[in-house]
This record gives sequence, structure tokens and C-alpha cells, in this order.
Amino acid sequence: MDLGIRGRKAIVCASSQGLGKACAAALAEAGVALVINGRDRERLEQTAQELRQSAGVDVTPVLADVSTAQGQAALLSVCPEPDILINNNGGPPYRDFRELDRQAIITGLTMNMVTPIELIQRVIGRMQERGFGRIVNITSLSVKMPIAGLDLSSGARAGLTAFVGGIARSVAHRNVTINGLLPGSFYTARLQQGIRAAAQKDGTSESVIEQQDRERIPAKRFGTPAEFGQTCAFLCSVHAGYITGQSILMDGGAYPGVF
Ligand SMILES: NC(=O)c1ccc[n+]([C@@H]2O[C@H](COP(=O)([O-])OP(=O)(O)OC[C@H]3O[C@@H](n4cnc5c(N)ncnc54)[C@H](OP(=O)(O)O)[C@@H]3O)[C@@H](O)[C@H]2O)c1
Repeated sequence: MDLGIRGRKAIVCASSQGLGKACAAALAEAGVALVINGRDRERLEQTAQELRQSAGVDVTPVLADVSTAQGQAALLSVCPEPDILINNNGGPPYRDFRELDRQAIITGLTMNMVTPIELIQRVIGRMQERGFGRIVNITSLSVKMPIAGLDLSSGARAGLTAFVGGIARSVAHRNVTINGLLPGSFYTARLQQGIRAAAQKDGTSESVIEQQDRERIPAKRFGTPAEFGQTCAFLCSVHAGYITGQSILMDGGAYPGVF
């Protein structure tokens, strides 16, 4: 399918690997020029090179922590007027909520709620003026189905979801959409890290934990970053202009409800 976005420009935050990289790759395949981002120089440069070679689009890597004002300024300085913004970031670590002090809570909120809001504030005006804008916030299944131990992540992302819900309705008439894309379990470095930690904690092997995790998912498998990226690119396409203010789950059926 032609997504109708060839020649558009996208900022994809936190995209040197994992879900962000997959979104960047799918947008590149659709002919979108990219700004990608991460904090590890080598990984970022390598991803930029890969994307240029595979899709032949312009790819500008921005080495920065997206949660900081300087990081955001660096992204916007190379692409002040993106047509597409994919908000992504690392997530707070698994931790008992009793152990979170005020600073840890503020850091988590900054990563997964404040940062995407600040970036939206900076780009949405020109999107409205131009009559085209696509914003996708990568959040989590935990927005709908909170997980104990990931309370800060769930709370910050749910806060973001509610925050942008009203904004989405206020810009829809200008062909600017804002949606949340909610991953369940996708096979990325972050997921593998969680599997390693669980195996150590239970004194068992990683393959046993992986198998148990897969069994809990109705699809009996983890999601692939590629399928996540393609869905994100579709949400950014001309065909998705009537989808806005939604939380779109990709979880292989893990969430047990139908709404
Ligand atoms: N994978 C899943 O199943 C799953 C499920 C639910 C929610 N999520 C959420 O989805 C997001 C992406 O997950 P993932 O699995 O793709 O993680 P990942 O494989 O660990 O990749 C994270 C990417 O973000 C970059 N990054 C992290 N912190 C950054 C920062 N402060 N500034 C700029 N770049 C940053 C990393 O590069 P550097 O480290 O070099 O900066 C890397 O490119 C996370 O918020 C995660 O919590 C994932």
C-alpha cells in the first residue's frame, strides 16, 4: 500500500534500536526523511547508516537524551517543522513503588509524560497551519492493564494518554492526529533484559521464562518490532486521517477485554 507520505519529514525519538528503530524503518520504507535519536553514538550511527542504505532516504542522527531541554532543542534544530512526530523514550525500571522517592517519580514522569507533551507543544502549531500532522505516542499495554512494579511507567503513560486526548480533538479539523500505540510484549533488547532479570531472580534459565511468557499471550508469541513499525507507519499515513485520540493495542490478545 502506498502510504501517501513520501517526502514527508519525521522526528522519531529514541530510535537507535527496538520499537523506535522499527517505526523509523517503516517510515523510511514509505519514503519519509528521518531524524533519529539515541544516546549511544555507535549504535545511533550504525542505525542511521542501515536506514539510509535500505530505504535511500535522508537520515539525520541526533545524539541526545530526549528527556532534556537540550536534547529536544537539538532534535528541533535539525528538523524544526516535522510532519510526523513519534514520541518514544526509555521506560522507568521495574521497582516496588514504596522504593520510589520524589526525584525518581519526577524523573519517570519527565521521561514518559512531560517530554512527549513538550515536543507536541513545539511542533503542533505548524502542523495545524500546514494542514497535515501525525503524532504517535509509543506508550504501553500497562496504560490499560497496569502491572505492579511498573507503576511509574503505567501512571506516566496513562497521564500522557489523558493529557493528549482533548488536544487530539482540538486539532482534528486541521488533519492533525494524535494516537497512542500500546505495545504488549515485543522481542526487543528491553524485553530480553526483563527475561534475564526474571531468570536470575527465579534461579531458572532464560528459555524457561521466555516460554512461560509466550504461553501467557493468546497469540503464543512475542510481537516483532517490524509489525509494530508498520502499524505506526500506517497511523502516520494519509489513510489514517480519521483515526485520532485512540489507544491502539498491539498485544497478541493479552488484554482480556474487547473495549
Ligand atoms: N518491548 C516491549 O515489549 C515494550 C512493551 C511495553 C512498553 N514498551 C516501551 O516502549 C519503549 C521502547 O521500548 P523498546 O523495547 O524498543 O526498548 P529498547 O529496545 O531498550 O530501545 C530503546 C531505545 O530508546 C533509546 N533511548 C532510551 N532512552 C533514551 C533517551 N533518554 N534519549 C534518547 N534515546 C533513548 C535507546 O538508545 P540509547 O540507550 O542509546 O539512548 C534505544 O534506541 C520503552 O519506553 C518501553 O518501556 C516496550
